[in-house]
Amino acid sequence: MEHEEMTLVLLGATGDLTRRLLFPAIYRLYAAGKWDPKQIIGFAKEDWTQEQFLTHIEENLKIFVEDFNQATWNRLKPAIGYQSGDLTSASLGQLAPRIGGSAVFYLGLPPQLFGPAAEALGQAGLNRGTGWRRIVIEKPFGWDLDSAEALRAVIAPWWDEEQIFRIDHFLGKDTAQNVLTFRFVNRILGSIWNRENIQQVQITYAETLGVEGRWQYYDRAGALRDMMQNHLLQLFSLVAMEPPGEWDATDLHNHKAEVLRSVRRVLPEDMEKFAVAGQYTEGTVNGKSVPGYRNEEGISAQSITETYAGLKLYVDNWRWHGVPFYLRSGKRMAHDWAEIAVQMRPVPENMFGAGLADWLVFRMKPDEAIDLVMWAKKPGLGLETEEVVLTAPYKKAGEIEYSAYEQLLLDVIRGDHSAFPRFDEVEESWRIMDPILTAWANSEPQAYPAGSDGPKGQDRLMDPGLAWRDLTGGNSDK
Ligand code: BG6
Repeated sequence: MEHEEMTLVLLGATGDLTRRLLFPAIYRLYAAGKWDPKQIIGFAKEDWTQEQFLTHIEENLKIFVEDFNQATWNRLKPAIGYQSGDLTSASLGQLAPRIGGSAVFYLGLPPQLFGPAAEALGQAGLNRGTGWRRIVIEKPFGWDLDSAEALRAVIAPWWDEEQIFRIDHFLGKDTAQNVLTFRFVNRILGSIWNRENIQQVQITYAETLGVEGRWQYYDRAGALRDMMQNHLLQLFSLVAMEPPGEWDATDLHNHKAEVLRSVRRVLPEDMEKFAVAGQYTEGTVNGKSVPGYRNEEGISAQSITETYAGLKLYVDNWRWHGVPFYLRSGKRMAHDWAEIAVQMRPVPENMFGAGLADWLVFRMKPDEAIDLVMWAKKPGLGLETEEVVLTAPYKKAGEIEYSAYEQLLLDVIRGDHSAFPRFDEVEESWRIMDPILTAWANSEPQAYPAGSDGPKGQDRLMDPGLAWRDLTGGNSDK
């Protein structure tokens, strides 16, 4: 159990992130005996009493924590306080007497407030204290390369890089962490993880969800900023990075930044071959009719925001030269399906039929597992082959499941930066995205019906002989 004598301050404590993700994570960590918080202070502009805040949190825990237990909550409650105020240094400064030693300031705020809040905390002197002081910043970090650098420039005078924890909650997911573990503990993978043996990599994050009331943010962001620049590029970097010398945050960041730097920039004249934007129209998802994006609440009928983004990336280094990495993510797709799928090249001489190639799949949704898709002799008298799938489910029945936020909160408390992108990774990711953002700023995305596999145009990204996998994990090329 972590007993670190520290205060956790949640800025934006009356918002969605706190009620849906942070407090459930805090509660579960406490209930599982992983963290015994000394003091948590909710801070927000709402003029609430402490009692009102606690009631609000309790109501939401009952919704978002399956095995909520009143007695556990009653024990945790005394550690939680509330203070109302705005994001000025004067108002934040009033927190100072309540914070003795170490503290974490978690900015659960809209992105445009990250800079002002970090600066005001610094001006109030809360960035230094008798213990350590850390700041947690949600995504997106910036809106493009320039704004990411501008945001850094606002924060840097007050907070050093070791004090900053940029959240990309995908890095707290078990499967993301398992990509590195699986790659680097199994010798069998070491020798095949390269262009000689790997034909292509597909990273898919398909969601049946739409914008779910987040239209103010989403319509400005779109799929590139919401999913690609951060989550999918991070997953990509885990698959493609060089092995670090030791398990150390600095080594991990160095190698991730290096591989991101090796990604070939998409030139304006090549945009069609490397990037596809889509937007959903009305359709049926899980048997329910849903409106098109332009008819969603709050969205303009002329919006050209992409709700789907598909990319092909090449990594210009010795390991990956010529291997396409396909990345795609979309809202209102046919299935909730997320995976990192690595396809081997076919054997040089195939005696048993064309097109047989193996896949190693890290599945994230609907369940977490590793699948090794191979070919074997079909039982019987003939010499036919059939696909065999060796599945290693990631969770066993009865095992406790931790959410990404639980993992990441503990990492912040322990001061472990491994699962938090360093600024140069963020910078390189924007460098990859910027030309695409520019190209898409004034262009119409391709329509795809809600409940489909995405826009037809995604197929044009594929190299000859390759095809996207089905959104139920099937091999579309078999
Ligand atoms: C968030 C995006 O970062 O990740 C959402 O803003 C997306 O649009 C979500 O739905 C997906 O993550 P998860 O963990 O809920 O599958």
